[in-house]
Amino acid sequence: MKTESLHQLYTHYSELPYSQRVLYTCTLLVLGSAYLFALIYLFHSYSGRDGNPGDLTYEDVVVAYTGSGKGSRLESALRGPMATMLPAEESSSVIGWVGEGASQEKYEQVVRPIMDKRCMSCHDGSNPHLPNLGGFDNIKKVIEKDTGTDIFTLVRVSHIHLFGLTFVFFIIGLMFSHAYLRPVWLKCGIVALPFVCLVLDVSSWYFTKLYHPFGWVVMVAGGGMGMSFAFMWCTTMYQLWFYKLPATVARPERTPLPPTA
Ligand code: HEC
Repeated sequence: MKTESLHQLYTHYSELPYSQRVLYTCTLLVLGSAYLFALIYLFHSYSGRDGNPGDLTYEDVVVAYTGSGKGSRLESALRGPMATMLPAEESSSVIGWVGEGASQEKYEQVVRPIMDKRCMSCHDGSNPHLPNLGGFDNIKKVIEKDTGTDIFTLVRVSHIHLFGLTFVFFIIGLMFSHAYLRPVWLKCGIVALPFVCLVLDVSSWYFTKLYHPFGWVVMVAGGGMGMSFAFMWCTTMYQLWFYKLPATVARPERTPLPPTA
């Protein structure tokens, strides 16, 4: 039987001391549940962006990074659920005021009296679930156009992602390096893939703002990261405890140390 050559420093999980295998197992269990929570969070905060919760689509990604392109919250409320709260001509003067740039002067003359009469019974700030519409500064908050996640937030999330996920994929990649998998280039590819995806993912958040189809790169890169994580996780867990190295690569048992004199 021809023996396969292994790198001198390669050790399979089965050759590692038990303490190290237990450490790997515990780390995998916690990392795995962390990944699940990350997925739940991701789904929860992005799936409804396109106005259609329940699935995570290309539109969700584009709206999250570039905004819905629709009018302000005030406008959609006046055209939608709040339409019955005031006569149509008052509604159009408020919408007109927003369209003209929402000056404070016209607010005091036209908008404040309408708000005071029609809206303040509910929107005076006493109910924490309803936007407070009292005063110019509060109104400003519901008339901002939705332009998606702002650059500074992206910068903050980028540095957290780049630092955090580098640790995650370094740790799981290091554990996975003990796996027996051929061809070697495939194994190297699986280790490198999440890092490539990470860089593509984070940079595409910004590019999506400039050119929407980069939303696809965000999705594909996220999927690539998830798949390599899942593959390394399962392979490591399986080979740690259940896999038997083929006879052609198994190393002979180490000779015991001579008894100390
Ligand atoms: C009878 C109480 C009541 C009055 C009066 C009222 N609203 Fe509301 N408003 C609500 C409730 C309840 C909600 C939250 C539920 C919803 O969005 O349908 C809400 C939600 C809103 C929202 C937030 C929508 C969002 O994006 O979440 C805006 C903006 C709004 N109202 C504007 C107004 C304006 C402007 C007026 C006056 C013309 C007004 N409301 C009058 C009860 C009221």
